[in-house]
Amino acid sequence: MIHVDKKLLNFHLQTKHTSYIMRVLPSKHLGCVYYGDKLDDKKPINHLEAKHEIEIGNQVIYEEHDKTFNLNLAYLEMPTYGKGDFREPALHIRYDDGSRTSDFHYLKHDIIDKPIFKEMPETKAYKDNIKTLVIILKDDYRNVEVEMHYTVFYDQDVISRRAIYKNTSDQSFIIEKAMSMNFDTFSDQYQLTTFDGAWIRERMINKRLVEQGIIKIDSKKGVSSSDHNPFIVLAKDQTNEQYGKCYGFGLIYSGNFEAIIERSPYDMIRVQMGINSFDFYWELKPQESFTTPEALMSYSSSGLNTLSQNYHNLIKNHIIKPDWQGKERPVLFNNWEATFFDFTQRKLINLAKQAKKLGIELFVLDDGWFGSRNSDTEGLGDWTVNKKKLPLGLQKLAKKINDIGLDFGLWVEPEMVNPKSDLYKEHPDWVIKHPGYKPSFGRNQLILDLSKEDVRTYIKASISNIIDSANIKYMKWDMNRNFSDIYSNALNHKSQGKLMHLYQLGLYDILEYLTNKYPEVLFESCASGGNRFDLGMFLYMPQAWTSDNTDGYTRQLIHYGTSYCFPQSVMGAHVSDSPSSMSIRKTDLETRFDVNCFGLLGYELDITKLTKFQKHVIKNQIKFYKEHRALLQFGEYYRIKNPFETNNTYIAVTNKDKTEAILGIFQTLQNAAEGLEKIDMYMLDKTIDYHITNRKSFFNIGKFSYLVGHALPIKLNHNGIAFHTLKNRYLYEKEKEDQIVSGDQLVNNGFIPKQNFMGTGINESVRLMGDFGSRLYYFKKK
Ligand code: GLA
Repeated sequence: MIHVDKKLLNFHLQTKHTSYIMRVLPSKHLGCVYYGDKLDDKKPINHLEAKHEIEIGNQVIYEEHDKTFNLNLAYLEMPTYGKGDFREPALHIRYDDGSRTSDFHYLKHDIIDKPIFKEMPETKAYKDNIKTLVIILKDDYRNVEVEMHYTVFYDQDVISRRAIYKNTSDQSFIIEKAMSMNFDTFSDQYQLTTFDGAWIRERMINKRLVEQGIIKIDSKKGVSSSDHNPFIVLAKDQTNEQYGKCYGFGLIYSGNFEAIIERSPYDMIRVQMGINSFDFYWELKPQESFTTPEALMSYSSSGLNTLSQNYHNLIKNHIIKPDWQGKERPVLFNNWEATFFDFTQRKLINLAKQAKKLGIELFVLDDGWFGSRNSDTEGLGDWTVNKKKLPLGLQKLAKKINDIGLDFGLWVEPEMVNPKSDLYKEHPDWVIKHPGYKPSFGRNQLILDLSKEDVRTYIKASISNIIDSANIKYMKWDMNRNFSDIYSNALNHKSQGKLMHLYQLGLYDILEYLTNKYPEVLFESCASGGNRFDLGMFLYMPQAWTSDNTDGYTRQLIHYGTSYCFPQSVMGAHVSDSPSSMSIRKTDLETRFDVNCFGLLGYELDITKLTKFQKHVIKNQIKFYKEHRALLQFGEYYRIKNPFETNNTYIAVTNKDKTEAILGIFQTLQNAAEGLEKIDMYMLDKTIDYHITNRKSFFNIGKFSYLVGHALPIKLNHNGIAFHTLKNRYLYEKEKEDQIVSGDQLVNNGFIPKQNFMGTGINESVRLMGDFGSRLYYFKKK
């Protein structure tokens, strides 16, 4: 709902539970008045604003006739530099005469159907009637306009923002900073959460109090990056998953971005998000305009979990393409961690046969199938099958896999080229590099210059050829290096500052073309794991590989952090071998499943070498996953206990009407005489009685070593052959849970599972979790 008081020029945007209020100030600037719980749109808003009754010392007065008003103490929507606001500007322009002062006043507004900007990923109205408030601001002296777009996603409690900068003058100028959004509010002990990391350590939760000064997170890597996700949370101190007030801000962009949180000397908070102003400049010629990426704001007064669900719902309904919304995803096998580059056609077929027996539905052939690609030193760019390795060719190989009973999918990395490739020999000028420097490499590869149309045409054609050549149902679109040597031989000296953004537009153009051309192909985005895990990519590809780290414990942290913005229905999550090659940590096969089943499940290990025990366990896991797939992939996601702060991870998913839920509990270390547990099932329905069972899962008795006599009623030499043979076959079932408990008790008191191991032995009622142990519980309406 968008309410406008045309006389007073107040703008009141309402979602189901929130209000966002702006007004045109007496100075004609667009002011930010309120963002929080829903307010009555009929009431006057004067009381919401800060009082300015007397001149404040050492400020720049905006206009002589009103000494009480200065821009430095105003809450603004489009702040600029040069008229007395000393905080970060949202827009910074260098004009032809060398001046950098701008000043924008309200000109007019309109309410329209959500407009479509083809060149960039953006939220889509799809079937809903979504309205956008457009407020136009103008710098009269410079003849520059800013279109401020506010789109209201009522049901999701999300408001999207973007600014479009227009040169309506007859002189060019240079934009040096062009934020998508600016939000000003007062400070009240805010805590900032960012989701930071590195390769194999993506989206770790990082909290700090917002003190006076500026905090900036950004990416200069050319991708949104695993260093900092373009999503932040600002919460009142003490806010937790269920209680407290919090704001989220996310950017729909996959390249260099920045997010700024500033607390001024007067304790005013400013939040900005947009394309990184570092290393960016954009010449805007007369009559040209510059459209910024869309930013998404949300507010919740019922804690962080609600905030996350606002984003999850928005992503599920207005970001993911309709064809893939709510569409169950196959259990896949990926050969990467099973073989790396070292595979033959026969090995792949054997893997596929075994995959079928386990219940897997999709076979994905990862890196190494094309050109001269036998290692990561060569071949990228040559998108034709390597017949030495795969004499059958793609079409027949896919057919063979299909005959086994599996769909076939393929890995590609189209944005890259190895110097050792035919493509590079033919087009050495297609890469991003400066003619004066030897280019620097990442994973032995260079980046193709997607600002060039012929490069884009080549990629579109070569990927189309692959898809047309065989029955391909899935494509993993990888991107494995960050940018260096940023220079395009297609741009003049005035335009080099555009390159990183033009690259993104080029990438989006390719993805738009291919994903529309092949709507039935399931595209999965990947960038060395989660180096480009952002709202932008999900507009084209409905899922992404969350991280290259498949360790059963670290993955809990990665999923937990990722879930603040992203639903589990976009997270590719695979069970790999143990010990993990990333951490050399051993975790149980059952734990690895329990972690990854809250996501898009896959297996990525040499399944031709499984023991009987492992085969049985995996079959059982996949059966469970398929039975509960809709709930696990698309259920509402609840965080209960935080592994960043405690020895446990507790998470749950529920269906819409709460008649079904799955709870996952994970223990990091087995502490001596662990405290008693009660699991806060705040998400359940108090009026429902639940039948609670646990997933049937098994111990491998190898775990007990010489203690096996305590666990089993048999005596065995734990170093002997008999024990070795037995441990690869014997299925030692874990304790069974079977209770009926009323929802009001579960919500008000919590769920109490069977007693944890206390160091004194186990029986059929003791829940031995051990280090990195887990359990899944299924709650069903009785
Ligand atoms: C990246 C991906 C991996 C795998 C390899 C193949 O690292 O993240 O999953 O596809 O590339 O080279």
